[in-house]
Amino acid sequence: MKTVSVCFVCLGNICRSPTAEGVMRHLVDEMKLADRILVDSAGTGDWHIGEAPDERAQQAARQRGYELATLRGRQITVADFERFDLLIAMDERNVAALHQLCPPAQHDKIRLLLEFVPQTESRWAGACEVVDPYFGGAAGFEQVLDQCEAACRGLIAALRPQLLA
Ligand code: 4NP
Repeated sequence: MKTVSVCFVCLGNICRSPTAEGVMRHLVDEMKLADRILVDSAGTGDWHIGEAPDERAQQAARQRGYELATLRGRQITVADFERFDLLIAMDERNVAALHQLCPPAQHDKIRLLLEFVPQTESRWAGACEVVDPYFGGAAGFEQVLDQCEAACRGLIAALRPQLLA
């Protein structure tokens, strides 16, 4: 049976990428794909290793039915480029950091999350990056959730043919 593994990547691994992981796990469970699509997250930075997600991210996610409390921050390593089929970055700075670490043969695995937002989601037309909500207010965390919900649905749709192939 085919499986696909994805790792969401941001800077701290306490706001955006754990949110993407929580949303993706929820959708994958709902679609009975938990044994086919493997999900993780990591940060390019090392400041929050071992920490639970930011309280504001946990709270905003919980209100939409996503539980992030058990997740813990970790830093991406070179071994992750072997382990995962896709490393899905939140912004261009994360992409640049991943490129620096990535063996050349694995560069195609690095993608931006918002590439997977379906064209029909005109709300995010033109947006390329999930903006860092860490130094902002509550609206930033809601926008991260909105974007993760739209992109993760598109991501699952994009992965389905690979699971069948
Ligand atoms: P994240 O947000 O990359 O979405 O987890 C951040 C969390 C912490 C910091 C920056 C961004 N920080 O500078 O500690």
